[in-house]
Amino acid sequence: MSTDGGGVASHSRGNRMASKLLIIDDEQEWLDILSLLFTRKGYEVQTAEGGVEGLKAIGETMFDLVICDLAMPDLSGIDLLKQVRSCDKTLPFIIMTGVGSIETAVEAVQFGAFHYITKPFKSQDLEILAQRAIEHRQLHRQLESVALHAEPTDISTMVLGSHRGIQDILAKIEKISDSSVPVLIQGETGTGKSLLARLIHEMSGRKGKPFMTIDCGALPENLLESELFGHVKGAFTGALFARRGLMEEGQEGTVFLDEIGELTPCMQVKLLRSIQEREIKPVGSNKNIAIDVRFITATNRDLAREVEQGTFREDLFYRLAVIPLHLPPLRERADDIILFVGHFVQKFNQRYNKKITEVSPAAMQLLMSQPWKGNIRELENVIERAVLLADEDVISPDLLGFSLNAQPRRADASDMGTGTISLQQAVSEAEKRAIQRALAITQGNRTKAATLLGIGRRTLYDKLEEYKI
Ligand SMILES: Nc1ncnc2c1ncn2[C@@H]1O[C@H](COP(=O)(O)OP(=O)(O)OP(=O)(O)O)[C@@H](O)[C@H]1O
Ligand SMILES: [Mg+2]
Repeated sequence: MSTDGGGVASHSRGNRMASKLLIIDDEQEWLDILSLLFTRKGYEVQTAEGGVEGLKAIGETMFDLVICDLAMPDLSGIDLLKQVRSCDKTLPFIIMTGVGSIETAVEAVQFGAFHYITKPFKSQDLEILAQRAIEHRQLHRQLESVALHAEPTDISTMVLGSHRGIQDILAKIEKISDSSVPVLIQGETGTGKSLLARLIHEMSGRKGKPFMTIDCGALPENLLESELFGHVKGAFTGALFARRGLMEEGQEGTVFLDEIGELTPCMQVKLLRSIQEREIKPVGSNKNIAIDVRFITATNRDLAREVEQGTFREDLFYRLAVIPLHLPPLRERADDIILFVGHFVQKFNQRYNKKITEVSPAAMQLLMSQPWKGNIRELENVIERAVLLADEDVISPDLLGFSLNAQPRRADASDMGTGTISLQQAVSEAEKRAIQRALAITQGNRTKAATLLGIGRRTLYDKLEEYKI
């Protein structure tokens, strides 16, 4: 989360948006003091004199934070919080309380308030709390967005490998790391599209800003629309409160639209409009909101063909595919299979507390000759099961769960030689090549090469030493 000393919000006009703050108190004096304090800090402040008025305001506007008095005659801070929580789980509340009612304030935290603060307090303490609450919520929305997608996206351990196609991709994303051009990632299921999207974000100038993910095929059209663009109160049944969409949450960051081929014609139009105009209109609202996000999209369909067939808009396609990337299927990455196997064995050794050190030549041959329709995901599952089932420190063919009668894709016996292949050796060999290529791509810049490889700089130095590169 970035702050520039003065808090999440700042006065700068540019792209940075001021955080919207609602202050609720039945005493006008407090409203005045706090309003002045936070306006000075660059927040956009609205006030409400009492719980009922506060509730109404929350319904109408999308706030980033609510600072609310606990004891109010018309509607207490706790009752207000409970009502909001019934349909908005993330809007952060800071509850202000007198010394006498700390117990109730603690109760408020149990009902989902971010924190409480006892009156009188130092303005600085409240400021810090406010800043934290807003950051906390941003993080929450990001996690929520990842959870919706339900894929682990840990790029720090990502295997890159030596396939030409992958190296081209890495060279390209390195080249465009300073810009925000839209990228379209195509590839079969399980080839690592989601992981690559994350890597592109991390390698871009938007690193450290939000990375919002949504699976366009997972939600019905109307839900997808409000998830993307947000909605105002009453926009549809159940919209009791206004809610911000992912595009707005992703301000200054990246929005990753997965399974973009699933977009309905109507949503295609809406997305095109928002990309062209760089603004969105929340469902039920008549106000446009300017957005500054970078779009990355992915699909396992052949979008160009869908354009030919008329199921995907040509104009949208060209907007999204300014930089088209194509992830090769695993069966075309024979060299990298060894590397992936090594990576996954290590991963599951750790997870399941195993000590597998070798893959038998026969098992490796089998692995290299599979059609891998599910690509890297399928390979990962096969290795996970094998590691779990292994009694000794070797993975043998029977642990892979392939029917031994099945026709292998091709015989690769010559590739593997006849001696025992040590996993360590194979991994080292592939690793060395990956490092050499990463250094070539980054023209010898070790820091960039380390980022490309998804490893720390220290680790890279150790490996350079180890392999005498
Ligand atoms: N380069 C890689 N290094 C390590 N693991 C990888 C790599 N690429 C993919 N994986 C793993 O393979 C699995 C599938 O990857 P991912 O979800 O990115 O594929 P996808 O192309 O987005 O699939 P889908 O089309 O089904 O959405 C994940 O568990 C991911 O962690
Ligand atoms: Mg995916």
